[in-house]
Order: sequence, then structure tokens, then C-alpha cells
Amino acid sequence: MSSHKAVIPSWLDLLHAGGTGGLSWHLHAWRSRPRWQATVQHLDDFLAKVQPQTPHLLLIGGSAGWMMPPAWLARFQTIAAYDIDPLAARLFNWRHGAHLQQRGVQVTHHRQDALATLPELLRQHPQASVWFDNVLGQHRFRVGDVVRAEKELQNLKVHLKGRAWGSVHDLFSGPTNGQAILANIPTRFALSGAEVTAVSQTLLSSVGATGEWRDHLTQDVFPTGTATQLLPWAFKHDDWHWLQAGWIEAP
Ligand SMILES: C[S@@+](CC[C@H](N)C(=O)[O-])C[C@H]1O[C@@H](n2cnc3c(N)ncnc32)[C@H](O)[C@@H]1O
Repeated sequence: MSSHKAVIPSWLDLLHAGGTGGLSWHLHAWRSRPRWQATVQHLDDFLAKVQPQTPHLLLIGGSAGWMMPPAWLARFQTIAAYDIDPLAARLFNWRHGAHLQQRGVQVTHHRQDALATLPELLRQHPQASVWFDNVLGQHRFRVGDVVRAEKELQNLKVHLKGRAWGSVHDLFSGPTNGQAILANIPTRFALSGAEVTAVSQTLLSSVGATGEWRDHLTQDVFPTGTATQLLPWAFKHDDWHWLQAGWIEAP
């Protein structure tokens, strides 16, 4: 069963949802499914190993769940999904609703800035594990202030102390020569921001990076020593991202 509150969105929200979602994102995601498949599989493999003890999930930035493994979602009894995109609830239900309903998963949708209100959300969902679903890499572009964004991203782990939580997010992204084949590029492992920096040149050359790449300021999202997996993502034919996925068990 699923529910969401009706709020009338503006045309700009429907199209771009603050520049991070909206109709343009969904059309792009829908058309890109074959090209993204290898990354979706990497994420599926990663999440298959993540077995939270709690039956509740706080899902942040889940959008329509274009890249979300249905089996992982179905392991929860309740999912509280927060997204600023007015289309997220309907499209998430379209893609995942029937499957989750069949398995008795209760999904509630909330249109809300979940990063600005994270401490409050954690209080409202005291038993929930938290999954940031490819949302943190957008923070610096939404906020516009690099220093503030980096500090807020580094501080998330302080708010989340004591929780089971995880994230997949952009590390860096940019233009490529369009010749790399996603399925042939291995994922990598790293334990710290310093290790990510050390391998960054190799990561970039493996996908045929050209020109200037964007740094998403997410290298210190996880506590140092967290085992993370680095996943290539052919966002566009010639514009790729390296994602980082990690999970922290509750103590
Ligand atoms: C790249 S999309 C995520 C895609 C999703 N993981 C999927 O598989 O389809 C990022 C999502 O995060 C949402 N978002 C960005 N900033 C947010 C915030 N501060 N609070 C809640 N949602 C946010 C956007 O609206 C967008 O739907």
C-alpha cells in the first residue's frame, strides 16, 4: 500500500525539480535504461550484501527508483520516501508499487527537502535504516555554495551516528571520448577519501575522460575506513560519473 500528499507543483518544478529531478531527469532515465544496465547490476550486487536488521527504511532521493533493485526494497516492511521532485511519488509507484504491495511493503511518499530537515526526519523515524539514493552528489549544485555544501556533506555522518545507513552518490563526473564500454570497466574499492584521490586519475582514464571533470565534494561523506565500492556510470554516452556506494552498520 502506498500514499502521498497532493501538493500542486509549478511547471518549473515538474520540469526540473530544483535542477535535480523532474520530467527531464525521468525522460533521460527512461531512455538510458539499456546504457545504465551494468551500473544498475553493480548496485544490485552491492545492495544484495547489505542486510539491515531493521524492517523500516528512510529512502532519500529515491525518485522513481530507476536504479533501485526491487528485491532490496521488498526486504522492508515500511519505506518512507522523501524527494523534492513532484513526479517522484507517482513514478516510483508506477515502477515499484505493484511489486511492493504484493509483498506487503507500506510505502509513504513525502515531498520535502530531506537534507535540510535530516535531524527532524531521523527523530520522526527512530527505528529506520537510511539510504541516500544518488542524491548527495547533487548537493553542491543545489546549494551553490561550495564551502557550505562540503561542510554539510561531511557533517551528515555526525547526525547519522548510531544508525544503519548508506549512500550511493557521485564522486566526480564529466565529459568522455564516448569510447569506453561500461560492462568492461571493473568496479573499484576504497576505504577513504585519500584512497579515492589516489586512484582518481586511473578511474578517469579508464572511462576515457576528456576536458574538465566536476568534483561532487562527497569524498568524506563516509567515516574514514568505510569499505566503499566505486562504480562507473555512463550517465550519457559521452558524459560519465564515478559513483561511490557504502553502508555503515548500526553499532
Ligand atoms: C539522481 S536522482 C536519484 C535517482 C534515483 N536514485 C533513481 O534510481 O531513480 C536524485 C533525486 O534526488 C532528489 N533530491 C535532490 N536533493 C534532494 C533533497 N535535498 N531532498 C530530497 N530529495 C532530493 C531529486 O529530486 C532526484 O529525484
